[in-house]
Amino acid sequence: MVKKTSAKSGYRDPEVLVGLDLGTSKVTVVVAERDGPSGEAQIIGVGQSPSEGIRKGLIVHLDQAVRSVRQAVGDAENMVGLKLSEATVSFSGCDVQSLRSKGMISLGRSPRTVIEVDIARVIEAAQADVSVPNNQIILHTIPVEYSLDGNSGIDDPLGMTGMRLDIDLESVIVPSATVQNVFNCVEKAGITVTGFVIKPLASALGAMTHEESMAGAVTVDIGGGTCGVAVFSEGRPKSLAVIPVGGDHITNDVASVLKIPMIKAEEIKKEVDIYSNDREDQDDLLEFDHMGKNYSYSLGELTEIVQCRVDELFTSLVRTEIANSGVPMLPAGLIITGGVARSAGLDKYLSRALDMPVRVSSPLDASRMPPNKNGPEYTCAAGIIRYALEQERDPYRYLEQSMDFITTKPTVRDPIQPPIRKKSLWDSFVDVVKELFY
Ligand SMILES: Nc1ncnc2c1ncn2[C@@H]1O[C@H](COP(=O)(O)OP(=O)(O)OP(=O)(O)O)[C@@H](O)[C@H]1O
Ligand SMILES: [Mg+2]
Repeated sequence: MVKKTSAKSGYRDPEVLVGLDLGTSKVTVVVAERDGPSGEAQIIGVGQSPSEGIRKGLIVHLDQAVRSVRQAVGDAENMVGLKLSEATVSFSGCDVQSLRSKGMISLGRSPRTVIEVDIARVIEAAQADVSVPNNQIILHTIPVEYSLDGNSGIDDPLGMTGMRLDIDLESVIVPSATVQNVFNCVEKAGITVTGFVIKPLASALGAMTHEESMAGAVTVDIGGGTCGVAVFSEGRPKSLAVIPVGGDHITNDVASVLKIPMIKAEEIKKEVDIYSNDREDQDDLLEFDHMGKNYSYSLGELTEIVQCRVDELFTSLVRTEIANSGVPMLPAGLIITGGVARSAGLDKYLSRALDMPVRVSSPLDASRMPPNKNGPEYTCAAGIIRYALEQERDPYRYLEQSMDFITTKPTVRDPIQPPIRKKSLWDSFVDVVKELFY
C-alpha cells in the first residue's frame, strides 16, 4: 500500500494504493487513488502479465517470477502514468493454517470504559496461547469476536463499559520460507513490500457485500492452482483456508482421461456447457482435429470427468472448511469468484449440490476497473485495496504482521565464498615471529 513516488509530467500528484496479486495463471497489479477525506479509494488502473515461476501461489522459479512481477508493474505504470514503488502483496501457498485461541483480561473491580490498551492486552493474552513452530510465522492476527462481562457478539468494545473482556482470536500461520521467497521476488522486481495479505481474505473483501458478511457467507476463489475459502459471519472472518486445487486440475483431468492435448482440454473446458445435468444429449459426440490427428469423445464422458473434480472440491473439501469454521448457518450462501467462476452454469450446479444460494462475483469495485479487467479473476487483486483501507481505518481488525522475520538481504543469490585456506605450519610460525618482533 502506499505513497506515490514520482508522476510523469502533466499527471496528477495523487496518493496511491497498490495491490499486487501473485497468481498461478497471472500476476495482477491494481492501482487505486485516495479519494480525499472520505477514506475511500478509487481504482485507477489494472496491470497484468502471464504468471511464470509461480505455482499454487508459491514461487518455484525466482527469476521468472521476478520478470512476471516487473511486467505486470510496468503494464500498470503505463496505464496510470505513475512510477510505482510499493505494494501490498497477496499470495497463498498450500500450507496455510488457521488457529483459534482465547484470551481474557480483567478491567478492574468496578465497571470501567474499555480503552485501546485493553484491546492490545487482551489480544496479547490470546496470542500467548498460540504455539508457532520455528519455521512458521503468524501472517494475520484477526479478532473474531469480543465478549464483555460474558455478553458475546461485541463487534468493537472500544469505549464500552464492563469488568471483564474476552476475545476469540484467529491466527493465520504460514511457513516463513514462503513469505521470504515472495518478499525476495517482489523486492527484486523493484517494489517495496509494505504488507502481506493471504489470498482468501483479499478475495472475500473483494467480493462479499457488507450485508453478506454480516449475515454469514462463504467466498470461494477458484483460480488456476488454488482455491481460497473464507467463511465470514457477523462481519468478521471466522476461517481462512487454501486448498491446493484449481482450474488447472480440471484441465489436467480432461487431458489425461480423454487423452487429448492440454491446449484443447483448456479450450473445451471453457467452451462446452459442462454443468447442465438435466439434458438428454450426453451421448452426443464432440470431435476435433489437432495436428493432423482426429479426436472424438462423448459429452457425457467430459461431464463426468469435470463434475467429479468439482464435486470433490466442493462437497468434500470446501464443506469441511465450512464445518471447521464453527459457523452453524450461512444464510447469504456461497459466493464463487476467480477464473473458474466464469464456467457457465457452475453456480446453479453448486446450488443444487450444496443446497444453498450461490452467486458468481466479480469485484465489488468492477465499475471502476477497465472493462476487460474487471471479471471474477480480478476479485482478489481488487480486494487487496479494500484490505489496505480497512487496516488503516481500524488497526485492530486485521493486525499488521511484524516483518522482523524477513531477511532484507536475500541470501539465495549471495556469491559463494571461496573456501578459507588452512594455515600451514610455516605461516603460523611467521605469524608468531611478527607478533613477537614488530
Ligand atoms: N470461461 C472459463 N471457464 C472455465 N474456466 C475458466 C474460464 N476462464 C478462465 N478459467 C480458468 O480459471 C483459471 C485461472 O483463474 P485465475 O486467473 O483466477 O487464477 P490465478 O489467480 O492466476 O491463480 P491462483 O489464484 O490459483 O494462484 C484457469 O484454470 C482457467 O482455465
Ligand atoms: Mg487467484
